[in-house]
Amino acid sequence: MINIRQISKRFGQKKIINDLSLQIEDGERACIIGPSGCGKSTLLKLLTGLSKVDSGDILIGDQSLTNLDEEGLYKLRKNIGFAFQSSALFDSLNVEKNVGFSLCETPDRASDSLILDRVQEMLDLVGMSGFEKAMPSDLSGGQQRRIGLARALANRPKIVLYDEPTTGLDPQLCSNIEDLITNLSKKLNLTSIVISHQISTMLRTSEKIYFMHEGRFLKPESPESIRNSTQAPLHAFFKGVL
Ligand SMILES: Nc1ncnc2c1ncn2[C@@H]1O[C@H](COP(=O)(O)OP(=O)(O)OP(=O)(O)O)[C@@H](O)[C@H]1O
Ligand SMILES: [Mg+2]
Repeated sequence: MINIRQISKRFGQKKIINDLSLQIEDGERACIIGPSGCGKSTLLKLLTGLSKVDSGDILIGDQSLTNLDEEGLYKLRKNIGFAFQSSALFDSLNVEKNVGFSLCETPDRASDSLILDRVQEMLDLVGMSGFEKAMPSDLSGGQQRRIGLARALANRPKIVLYDEPTTGLDPQLCSNIEDLITNLSKKLNLTSIVISHQISTMLRTSEKIYFMHEGRFLKPESPESIRNSTQAPLHAFFKGVL
């Protein structure tokens, strides 16, 4: 479903993504890890067309991103949910308006009652019904993450991208969010890509773990195989902590 073909991306003199290829199947739960600054978030931006590749191509289904105009990109993004790092909720909007945001800000806007129904369905999914009128500042960090997930899922996307969904949360909240990501992916048959530095998140939310090294991926590991990986950069990265 997601087919990344030999893409490269540089910023100034620095080549961040270097001839990187990756194929993620429908329904796969993938995790991307790697040192800070190696290009993980950049890759997510390329996947959603927020940034453009210098060379190579990305296909979502059979749709190539390279030549899509704004309208094409807009349609494509409706199928991709993006849960941003640190939730990135709109401070001035209540929970209901945050979750329904992408449904309201669209030319083919559904009726208010349909939007409210969908918001309710999403809040139920993430265990946050009853918080419709709360403001983001009234919520704990973990609750904000849940609302961020509800917002990412509101368009019923088939692909969901999570950028550091658990960073900065206490172990119990981490494990709640990890369970939520895994259960939602299974229940809704989503294809998911989680970026994380959190070891528990990497091990608990994914089937395949891709380590980014020098602008491309090493051979993927599974949560079971990664501890005994013989790939040197992985070994060095986790030395003593895995
Ligand atoms: N718009 C931009 N202009 C210039 N440089 C950029 C831009 N976006 C990212 N970079 C650079 O590209 C590199 C990769 O950044 P990116 O945000 O993808 O890293 P990351 O792997 O997500 O790191 P982290 O784990 O810290 O979030 C960094 O050196 C960053 O400074
Ligand atoms: Mg990042």
